[in-house]
Amino acid sequence: MWSTQVAIIGAGPSGLLLSQLLQRSGIASIVLERQSRTHVEARIRAGLLEWTSVELLLEAGVGERMIREGLVHDGFEVAWADTHHRIDLKGLAGRSMLVYGQSEIERDLAEARAAEPGAVVWEACDVALSDWDAPRPRVTYTHRSVREEIRCDFIAGCDGFHGVSRASVPPDRLTAYERVYPFGWLGVLADVPPLSDELVYANHERGFALCSMRSRGRSRYYVQCPLEDTVEQWTDERFWSELRARLPRHYAARLVTGPSLEKSIAPLRSFVTEPMRFGQLFLVGDAAHIVPPTGAKGLNLAVADVRVLWRGLVEFYGSRSTQLLDEYSARALQRVWKATRFSWWFTTLMHRFSEDRFAHRLQLAELDYLAQSSAAACSLAENYVGLGFEPGRCQE
Ligand code: APR
Ligand code: PHB
Repeated sequence: MWSTQVAIIGAGPSGLLLSQLLQRSGIASIVLERQSRTHVEARIRAGLLEWTSVELLLEAGVGERMIREGLVHDGFEVAWADTHHRIDLKGLAGRSMLVYGQSEIERDLAEARAAEPGAVVWEACDVALSDWDAPRPRVTYTHRSVREEIRCDFIAGCDGFHGVSRASVPPDRLTAYERVYPFGWLGVLADVPPLSDELVYANHERGFALCSMRSRGRSRYYVQCPLEDTVEQWTDERFWSELRARLPRHYAARLVTGPSLEKSIAPLRSFVTEPMRFGQLFLVGDAAHIVPPTGAKGLNLAVADVRVLWRGLVEFYGSRSTQLLDEYSARALQRVWKATRFSWWFTTLMHRFSEDRFAHRLQLAELDYLAQSSAAACSLAENYVGLGFEPGRCQE
């Protein structure tokens, strides 16, 4: 039997970052991850960080490569009906974003955690949580065919939407809110120069498109597609021609295409579960909430949860005060619901939902309003860079 202060389930960005911050604060943890390290580092996910996320990664001591290789973005473009408009994030909301892939963050974090032998158990199977309502919870798992047990003070459920942590809570103790969107995103990664220096979000009659990037030589592009589509139906040629068709002519003319390195289809979902704490068990990141990727809030919300929980644990082990831990769920949910609203709104504005021509004309009117009203642009900008807990950061 092993003993630790915090047992962390899942080595996604939430679990690894929490364990890294705890280690630097002198608090012991063990991370149990179902997958191999190679698998986790190879997953292609989003890649856009709010500045508060950048700051926490720096505070965790894993920001050196991120600062060297990340791309600072002061704005982005919204395109529709053959026109486009720049949202000046820096000017309107006083903050920039950083383009740095989630797989790079995972690599940096996994490398930092590898310095402490045994800190992460990769390929831990059949993880099970018990006694999380009692003072000394237990986590059992199988590693290299041996059943193991950890006794701990707290469990951090950082195991994503399909993880075991939320599933361990009796359904009558939580309330789930959900919206499933009737389409998916087909994503392509390719070693071609990005369409533009900044991201371009396009609303088009044929459906939404997003031109993002991972570096100056690597692009990440998406098109809205029917949920029932498979990647086999989307040859590279079909993808590039569909993407080009959804961009204003000005951009379409300069799109550089090339062979795809990765192609996948992801469904879009909004999901929030309340509360985020059950006795000694805390749900963190995707285990507690999912947002559609429009606006790239998923990873940033996970980092924000980690910040609140880490501070609560530091306070607890420093002074035995449970005040911050007791406030964890309410504090995290405040931010989660605002980001859920923003991601839902941005998704609704930019995607084609049906043949409803009235709805499409309303989208065009709202996009035009965004281009003409600094109040409207400001609201988008301050949500995009990430709402702090203090209101009204937007400046004229
Ligand atoms: N036992 C152990 N590990 C598990 C289990 C389990 N039963 N179930 C899931 N996991 C692991 C997954 O393999 C994954 O590595 O938990 C990890 C969860 O990681 P993420 O899904 O990345 O969730 P999170 O760390 O909260 O990160 C949120 O990452 O997934 C994106 O869109 C998401 O950007 C957001 C951010
Ligand atoms: C990405 O680069 O993968 C990305 C960027 C911005 C988004 C969503 C995804 O809104």
